[in-house]
Amino acid sequence: MAKHFLSLHDFTRQELIDLLDLSTELKQLYRSGGQDNCLTGKTMTLLFEKPSSRTRISFEVAMNQLGGSPIYCRPDDVGGLGKREPIKDLARILSGYVDLIVVRTFSHDHIVELAKYSTVPVINALTDFSHPCQAMADMMTIREHIKNLEGGKVTFVGDGNNVARSVAVACAKLGVNFSLAAPADYSFDNDFKELLNNISDTTIECTTDVKKAAESADVLYTDTWISMGQEDEKQQRIEVFSDYKIDQNLMKLAKPDVKIMHCLPAYRGMEITDDAIESENSIVFDQAQNRLHFQRALLKYLCS
Ligand code: CP
Ligand code: NVA
Repeated sequence: MAKHFLSLHDFTRQELIDLLDLSTELKQLYRSGGQDNCLTGKTMTLLFEKPSSRTRISFEVAMNQLGGSPIYCRPDDVGGLGKREPIKDLARILSGYVDLIVVRTFSHDHIVELAKYSTVPVINALTDFSHPCQAMADMMTIREHIKNLEGGKVTFVGDGNNVARSVAVACAKLGVNFSLAAPADYSFDNDFKELLNNISDTTIECTTDVKKAAESADVLYTDTWISMGQEDEKQQRIEVFSDYKIDQNLMKLAKPDVKIMHCLPAYRGMEITDDAIESENSIVFDQAQNRLHFQRALLKYLCS
């Protein structure tokens, strides 16, 4: 059976640590001018139903660097997962053409179904439910900037969305305390909270009190208030989330050397101020660079 990368829940703590170690090893190799051609002759397709710059480009570059070939399909090419033809048909057809399938889509159930019928690895490149590749690059970045984060605290400010869920799972798996500061109707649901609490003994807190959540945080993390597909709710969301932003005032409540993170793209003046993202505390651009270093390791891991 093919190994897939759909959700961080599916991996043990040690498997995630091994993946992070491989990411670091390959990052050092490529930074020193080395090369690993482990995917020579392999082909990967990217089926993207939403826009992307970081995820798409880093996957394509990673595949090229490992000696393989990526084929990008825009939303019109796919014709809507499950709309032009049954997902189970597409999965079996693509499995005969390519060695890897990378999917960015709306419904998480669609990617689960694709993986069920695919005989080659399927990678979740973002669904409405989760964004595990992002969270792994985030953990890699945190490891580089904060020694011994185990027992430390990551505070996510804003929407309890796909990115927040994956970062929360990554923290729980890796022994990091996690706090979500979100308006009540935009927090994690009870099933997801229970799932998080069953992963490990780390503290998982969900609160509406953004100031309390920021106290003694090692990391303040945010994402857009309006995810792809939620454009119709823009005005309402801008009002509801107006207090859930990272700015200098919030940073003062956290640890003095708090690190600022954002998965990007950022909407400056909304979920994060310009001075916060440009501050010395910000590690957002290292975070974005690590998308490439993690994707490279993931492709090698899934194909080996
Ligand atoms: N962070 C992230 O996934 O960016 P893209 O939407 O540009 O891929
Ligand atoms: N939560 C955002 C993440 C973008 C990388 C979205 O889904 O649009």
